This record gives sequence, structure tokens and C-alpha cells, in this order.
Amino acid sequence: MSKTINIIAISGSLRQKSSNTALMNAIIGLAPDSMKYTIYNGLGDLPHFNPDLDTDEGPESVLYLRNQLEAADGVLICTPEYGNGVPGVLKNALDWLVSSTVMMNKPAAVISASPTPMGGDKAHASLLLTLNMINTNVVEGGKLIIPHINLKLNQEGAITNAELEQELKAVLKALEEACS
Ligand code: FNR
Repeated sequence: MSKTINIIAISGSLRQKSSNTALMNAIIGLAPDSMKYTIYNGLGDLPHFNPDLDTDEGPESVLYLRNQLEAADGVLICTPEYGNGVPGVLKNALDWLVSSTVMMNKPAAVISASPTPMGGDKAHASLLLTLNMINTNVVEGGKLIIPHINLKLNQEGAITNAELEQELKAVLKALEEACS
């Protein structure tokens, strides 16, 4: 029997009706039984990054994030783009990881989605730079930029675009293989 692959899934949007969160949930729905996804939704609970607060004793929410990531076999990030960059809450979380080694060689899939024709490409590129800095293994085949996301999800957040579904399955496969 193959081992269960544990993935932490993070949406970079705090918005209740977020297309990226809907996309993340849709991806989880497409995942094979061999992959167990745990959603990390604590971005909004993290304090603003401050090196003065960065100690072995805390903050508790930071230790929780690091422990979750350390215990995971891989990471899935789905993010919007704000002001041509990574959403502040997501960048803040990554800043809390810089002094730790929890992302070292950790396989990750990185997806950006936007209603615009560019799909959040600048946030995607910027995110890759930060993940590279903390030695994340962003897997070959695990990078996807999704334009016009508003036309590819229905009201319930389910994927309505067959091509996108195939692309997401390919990303899942790449992540699965990297974590096996
Ligand atoms: C945006 N949006 C946006 N989109 C983009 O592709 N590049 C950008 O720089 C920005 N900037 C931006 C700033 C602000 C203040 C808002 C409110 C929005 C649009 C954004 O992609 C869109 O709202 C997405 O739907 C947000 O993602 P979620 O929340 O649906 O996942």
C-alpha cells in the first residue's frame, strides 16, 4: 500500500468569496486518495513580522504555522495578486519562515489566479523569488498562472473549464510525484 502524502494548502486571499480559495478547494476535490490535504487558514492570525518577536518561544501562531509546514510532505499555495505583488498576509507568513528551515527542500505547487488576462503573473513571480530564498522545492510542473478565473468557476466555486481541470490534475501529479 502506498503511503499517504500530507499536503498543507494555503490560499493567499482572506476574502470570503475568494476565487483562489474556491480553486484551492476544487484542487483538493481533484486530488487522489493517496493525498491528504489540510487547509491552513491562519494567515490573518499571524502578527506582523517583526524580528524582535521571532524567538523559539513564539509567537504561538507562528510556531503553529511552522509546525504544520514542517510536518507536511508538501505545500500547495493558491494566491491572488494585489497591487502587482503578493498579498501582504501571504508575504507576512513567508517572512516568518525565513529564519526557520521548515521550507528547506519542501516540494510546493504554486498557483496564481486572477480575473485579469495576466492571471496574477507578477505575484506568481514574486512568490517564487521568496520561496526560492527559503529553499523551497517548487516542483517542475507545479507552477500555474490562471487568467480569467472568474470565467472558470461557477457560483459554488466548482471548476467549469475542462482545460483548467486538466492543468490542475497535472499540477497535482507533479506535486504527488515530488512528495513520493
Ligand atoms: C486587485 N486585483 C488585482 N488583480 C491582478 O491581477 N493584479 C493586481 O495587481 C490586482 N490588484 C488588486 C488590488 C486591489 C485593492 C483589489 C481589491 C483587487 C484583482 C484581484 O485579482 C481580484 O479581486 C481577485 O478576485 C482576488 O482574488 P480572490 O480574493 O478572488 O482569490
